[in-house]
Amino acid sequence: MRKSEAGSGRCRPWNRRVFGRIAIAALAAATLAFLPVVTVAQGVAGDAAAGKAKAAVCAACHGPVGVSVNPAWPSLAGQQPVYLAKQIRLFRDGVRVEPTMQPFVQNLSDQDIDDIAAYYAGLSPCP
Ligand code: HEC
Repeated sequence: MRKSEAGSGRCRPWNRRVFGRIAIAALAAATLAFLPVVTVAQGVAGDAAAGKAKAAVCAACHGPVGVSVNPAWPSLAGQQPVYLAKQIRLFRDGVRVEPTMQPFVQNLSDQDIDDIAAYYAGLSPCP
């Protein structure tokens, strides 16, 4: 195979170079276009900074950065925000029962829960 036929970089024929660039640009545009949709679909409308303050009482069991050292207490860091918010609501509403935790979540508003979920979801599970 001659060098000009190598098919990569400068040696590629102009039409393949241009097509490659268009393909990359289209891919980037498609990714950017879908990014906000995916983020919203996977997330909750929470404010992580506000959630950090509201989660101070949770740290006693779930760890200061959401990683628990006690096998009976789950780690929350990096968990999916929708799942976290759902579980906290279930505890608050008495559908899922954990007597030691109930007092800490029973007075949370929906906004509190979304904020806390956003906070824990943004933490690394491997601090
Ligand atoms: C006294 C200890 C304690 C405190 C304080 C506490 N939790 Fe928990 N939490 C637990 C235990 C124990 C479980 C596991 C319950 C079970 O086994 O079903 C749990 C489970 C959870 C789960 C479910 C995790 C999963 O993977 O399903 C979430 C979410 C959660 N807690 C959030 C919170 C939040 C938010 C706070 C603070 C507002 C909090 N917890 C405070 C003990 C605690």
